Amino acid sequence: MDVGNLADDVRTELAADLSETRLAKIERYRRAQDRDRGLAAHSMLRRLLSAVTGTPPAQLQLGSFCISCGETGHGKPFLDAPDGNRDVEINLSHSGEVVIVALAAPGVQVGVDAEQGRTVDWNALRNSIFADQEWAATERRTDREYRRLLTWARKESSVKASGHGLSLPLRHVVTSDAEGATWSASMPSGVGRVAGADLDLAPDVAAAVAVLRPEGWPDPPVVRRISIG
Ligand SMILES: CC(C)(COP(=O)(O)OP(=O)(O)OC[C@H]1O[C@@H](n2cnc3c(N)ncnc32)[C@H](O)[C@@H]1OP(=O)(O)O)[C@@H](O)C(=O)NCCC(=O)NCCS
Repeated sequence: MDVGNLADDVRTELAADLSETRLAKIERYRRAQDRDRGLAAHSMLRRLLSAVTGTPPAQLQLGSFCISCGETGHGKPFLDAPDGNRDVEINLSHSGEVVIVALAAPGVQVGVDAEQGRTVDWNALRNSIFADQEWAATERRTDREYRRLLTWARKESSVKASGHGLSLPLRHVVTSDAEGATWSASMPSGVGRVAGADLDLAPDVAAAVAVLRPEGWPDPPVVRRISIG
């Protein structure tokens, strides 16, 4: 599905899955492609949750909570189950032509991030995003543009796993390569530790999924992928 350029009948079909609040939020996006991507992302999230819970997409109750200010209505999304138990943990990311929804077992703090390849002024961003050793590691690589984007995606997935988002300075989330496509990240004191896996979605897309544990090191996530065309 071209998630940034939907046909009218597809828009209508996807919109039927969403809540009025979400539709109103999407309607406020200035660019048509952002509105379409928002529709695709939130419909996909609800359809996957519907497959897990058996509740029709439009009847699911989703909430969000901001760990930074303690308020609901913004911040990390969650599935608000009627019995108060969470059947599944969720996170999502949309960038360019990509939408990723991550579902994890109850109690697993999960975050996901996708960064579509684009021209980035790395020197301007370097100090706010990269720890010195991370920047040095990308400098040594022939695919350094991609590695920088991937390091960024790893860090964003980490702060999305904890729920802090960009209120945690990305420079203070320090990632290290582990085996294969896995990695770990140390977070600022008291937040916890992260293990993650890179997601190979398309040649020009850097993406990662992260899980956080408040204490000790988590195992890297075992990723089971479902692609929806
Ligand atoms: C969350 C955030 C990292 C998203 O970054 P992004 O690269 O622009 O966007 P992505 O597509 O990867 O992710 C967006 C999705 O992340 C989820 N999300 C929002 N806040 C989140 C948080 N704190 N933690 C985890 N996930 C979050 C939402 O589902 C959101 O989708 P939506 O906007 O369609 O609802 C960034 O916007 C952010 O940190 N915002 C909050 C800053 C903050 O904490 N402010 C203090 C408020 S009191």
